[in-house]
Amino acid sequence: MIPKTFKIKSFGCQMNVYDGERMAELLDSRGMRAAGADEDADLVVLNTCHIREKAAEKAYSDVGRLRREDGSKPLIALAGCVAQAEGAEAQRRSSMIDVVVGPQAYHRLPELVAEAALGRRPVDTDMPAISKFDAMPPRRRASPSAFLTVQEGCDKFCTYCVVPYTRGAEIGRPSRDILTEARSLVAAGAREIVLLGQNVNAWAEDGRGLAGLIRALAAISGLERIRYTTSHPNDMDDALIAAHGEIGKLMPYLHLPVQSGSDRVLRAMNRSHGADSYLRIIDKVRAARPDIAVSGDFIVGFPGESDADFKETLNIVDAVGYASAYSFKYSPRPGTPAAMMEDQIERDVMDQRLQQLQERIAYHQAAFNRSRVGTGTQILIERAGRSPGQMIGKSPWLQSVHVETAASPGEIIDVTLVAAGPRSMTGAERARAAA
Ligand code: SAH
Ligand code: SF4
Ligand code: F3S
Repeated sequence: MIPKTFKIKSFGCQMNVYDGERMAELLDSRGMRAAGADEDADLVVLNTCHIREKAAEKAYSDVGRLRREDGSKPLIALAGCVAQAEGAEAQRRSSMIDVVVGPQAYHRLPELVAEAALGRRPVDTDMPAISKFDAMPPRRRASPSAFLTVQEGCDKFCTYCVVPYTRGAEIGRPSRDILTEARSLVAAGAREIVLLGQNVNAWAEDGRGLAGLIRALAAISGLERIRYTTSHPNDMDDALIAAHGEIGKLMPYLHLPVQSGSDRVLRAMNRSHGADSYLRIIDKVRAARPDIAVSGDFIVGFPGESDADFKETLNIVDAVGYASAYSFKYSPRPGTPAAMMEDQIERDVMDQRLQQLQERIAYHQAAFNRSRVGTGTQILIERAGRSPGQMIGKSPWLQSVHVETAASPGEIIDVTLVAAGPRSMTGAERARAAA
């Protein structure tokens, strides 16, 4: 029987969240309906992440949990990067998985589900030359801050990373399609658009890079804020850096992962930038936009990382003064060069380093947040807070701001940032014109 209701659960990066939204719209356009919160769905799509071992293993434990008390189960589609990496092997590992669909093939999800409803177990991990986006229904729903994937895949082949294998080669979407999608997102209520890509700043068309695309998007009326993530240091060109000082709608926030502060480790990671060249980029960005909030990603315990290497990572955290950052323990991934390297680091060493790094990052994050106290700024209201009358919005620097206000999600209001917590800010609304 063809399923009538569905539930999509996305894990991993923002691109997976975006893909999850697109799959929901696709199923919806074919007459299926999203299952309510507590309701059993006829179809469950697990949109998985393969980046670290824990994330990948979670996919299988989540599948197991879908068995119902009476022994029955919904139709199960394994999507995302675990699906791409494991293909039909996933169905050998778990007989509960009916459909396997990779991140470049999910435009075929309705057909695959229909096949599975007939008792087949289809696997589609093709990376077709024709973009899946061309087969997608237009955007009709949008949150105040909406994701828009503009670039997919990665050609960088960092030695620890599965993304080039799970997402394929770097491809940018045509600007015409991006602008059309952006306009429909704004018409559906988005005030902010976050441009997404594994290497979003590698996006280019006819010699024009991401800065040109951002400029074109900035001309859309009703779109108030633009962000982009994730960027690679090597693709941070001068035009994009300059854009931070020139385009008012481009928010003062830059996620620029460095991974390590040690040149030796960076070489072994095949990052093709050093600590100094990274710091020079940060200097240039700050010259263009002095208040910019810089964020990053770090890996501790890469094979061969010595105490001295790790100390250099702490040093670069101090040198940059991150407003926020994500840090991970190195996780060996099947098929990647680093997984075969000697000198894999002991777990307790990794644990200690991670803790030390996170403390250092938290110190700088708190300092950045304190530095904003007393600032008058605007926040985009995104959702209701815990207490009545309280709403949560985002500052230009991507801080969560709690504020007492009558404003609704999607409104941009004037606030003064009055207090800083370790992870969020408190704002006081400035006088509102009567509606
Ligand atoms: N394309 C982006 C993000 C890739 S995945 C970039 O290059 O920055 C997000 C983060 O996961 C990476 O920045 C890295 O810090 C982390 N990561 C990737 N592979 C990993 C692995 N094998 N073990 C631990 N962390 C990893
Ligand atoms: Fe992975 Fe490196 Fe590509 Fe980022 S740049 S997705 S870390 S291979
Ligand atoms: Fe994970 Fe795939 Fe994103 S591995 S981080 S979901 S690209």
